[in-house]
Order: sequence, then structure tokens, then C-alpha cells
Amino acid sequence: MRKNMIDIAWESFAALPLEDKAPYLRQADGTPFHTLFAQQFDPPLLDRLCTLANCIRSIAKTRAGMDFMRQQICHKRAMLYFSQPSSRTFLSFVSACQILGMQIGEVRDSATSSEFKGESREDSVRTFSSYFDLIVMRSPEKGLAEHMAWVLSNSERPIPVINAGSGKDQHPTQALLDIYTLQRSFERIGGLRDRTIVMVGDLARGRTVRSLAVLLAGYPNVRQVFVAPEALQIGEDVQAVLRQRGVEFSLSDNLRSWLPQADAVYMTRIQDEWDQARGESAGIDTSRFKFGLEELALLRPHAIVMHPLPRRDEIDTAVDRDPRAMYWRQMRNGMWVRAALIAMTFGCERRVLDYQRANL
Ligand code: NCD
Repeated sequence: MRKNMIDIAWESFAALPLEDKAPYLRQADGTPFHTLFAQQFDPPLLDRLCTLANCIRSIAKTRAGMDFMRQQICHKRAMLYFSQPSSRTFLSFVSACQILGMQIGEVRDSATSSEFKGESREDSVRTFSSYFDLIVMRSPEKGLAEHMAWVLSNSERPIPVINAGSGKDQHPTQALLDIYTLQRSFERIGGLRDRTIVMVGDLARGRTVRSLAVLLAGYPNVRQVFVAPEALQIGEDVQAVLRQRGVEFSLSDNLRSWLPQADAVYMTRIQDEWDQARGESAGIDTSRFKFGLEELALLRPHAIVMHPLPRRDEIDTAVDRDPRAMYWRQMRNGMWVRAALIAMTFGCERRVLDYQRANL
């Protein structure tokens, strides 16, 4: 059932479990209005999104197709509000908006906005909503995108918010492109079911894995393996979600032992920007959580290596030349899936699918 954020006070909304928040964020056709966390997506909706991403991708191959795509929401403007460093997520959102013909504004440093003069974030976001029709936001604060979505839904210009990374908590659109990458990679060998996905690195503070684990939980017989030093293991909260949904998962500190049965290995970097004390992460032995040619030799021929990027030294660049190295293609997939998400948010799904059916 769909619910409306006008009917609930912020404190009551904030206190709900994520599954109970999801109905407040939906449009009548089941697609998200605000995209805030992974719990809003189940495999049928993810399939819809991946189909739309493939469709946009093939339409955009021709000039006529690109002209059509650029007509879709050329009357809408997007504000990219990134108060945390970003290269890929930012640029892929820019490209996604451009594919759909949107105009873009950006704030990447709050020192250049009125927040610096003491303006509250609520007021900043309401200001953006006076000029724009979509806010894509990245913030070091967990829950800020949710709060802004509630503020806007309760304003006279209720425009959608897309979370492009919230603190150590969630990165739902990265998880969408990860699922899209897995689906494309396993398309010819039975799809995303009966698989073993091995996630490696700083799982305690890596928001990409935290969102991906939730999405993977919806797929039949997909085993999740979390490989990390003990201090950086996946959070209890994610484990509780997996237990509740009956997902088979393992915690390990031995990467090599899992490689022969992996279908995908998802590497991540140490997120030392979150260290409480200086040098805290440097004191952890991460040498066994790296992927090089010796690890590659243990991987099956169909298995893939993923990484949300940026990488440091957790994947040896020598691996890049192997066809199983998927991270560069994974990055480009982000542009298509984000274009699909924005197209869906603005109700263009049917029109785009119909164009493909009629023209390609
Ligand atoms: C990730 C992030 O920002 O969480 N980057 C990204 O969006 N691709 C991963 C990271 O910073 O390690």
C-alpha cells in the first residue's frame, strides 16, 4: 500500500524500520519517488530497472535515438548537491541527466553556498527546490537524504530526492548498478540465482556493500560471503536483515579459500576517512584482503571481479587486462542505470519501452 509523507511527523517517520518507510516513498505505479535506501527495491522492480537501462542503452546508440532520449525530461532541472568527495557518482549522474535532456546545477562544496553563512540544510534544500525538479545528494551524514525528502514532501514543491551516498550507511544507486552488472554478467548462464558473491575489504564502513547485501537478499539461493579483518566486518544490522530474510551468509577472513566457488568477488578499499583515531586503520593487517594474479588464478572462468572504485592497491592493475575484470564496465553501467532510475522517477518508462519496440 502507498502512503503519504504529509500524513506522518518527521519523528514518527524517522523511527520506522526501513521496510515500513518504503511505502511512503513510492509512486502509484510502484516505482520510487524518493530513492533513499536499498530496502525500497525487490527483484521485480530491479528487473524493471535493468530492462529500462538496457533499453536506454540501445536507443542511445543512434543519433535519432539520442534525440528521442533528450526529449524525455528536457523540461526538468536537476540539482547535484554533493557535500562529500565524488568522481564517478557525480559524473555518472551528470551524464544520466544529460542523456535525458535535463539541465543541471551543482553545489559540491558547502563553503560556496549559503550554508557557510549559517543557513540550515532544510532551508538550503528548500531553496534548491525553488529552482530545480530533482535533488541528487551525497552527504557524510546518515539519514540526511531521508530528512530532506520528508522536508520536501511536506513543502509546496515536493520534488524527488535521490541518495547518492549517505555516510557509512547506504549507497543505493551504487547497489543498483552492481545488480545491473551482475545481471548482465550472468545473463547467459542462468542469471542472478544460485550464486556465491564474495564481498571483501572494509565492510564495516563501506556503504556500497551494505546496500548491495540488502538487494542480493531478494534473489533465490544467493549466498553472501563477507571477507574482512575482524575489526572491519559487516555490521550486525546487515546480518540481522539477512538472518530475518533467511539468506545463507558467512563471515570469513580468508579470501583465497572462497575464490574457487565464487561467482563474483566484490573488492572495496579501506575507508580510513572514517577513522576515529588517527592511524587506526593503518594498524590493521589488510595484506590478505587484496586481489592479484595469484587470486585471479583461483577464480572460475565465468566469475567476475567487481569494485565500486576508487581503488587503492586492493586490486593489482595487472588484473585489469583479464576479461573477468568487470570494474570499468561496472562504472559505465552506473550511467545507464541512473538514467533509467531518473526516467522511472519522472514517469518515462512506458514511453521509452514503446519507442524501442517501435523503432529497434
Ligand atoms: C564509493 C563511495 O563513495 O561509497 N564510491 C563510489 O561511489 N563509487 C566507494 C568508496 O568511496 O570507496
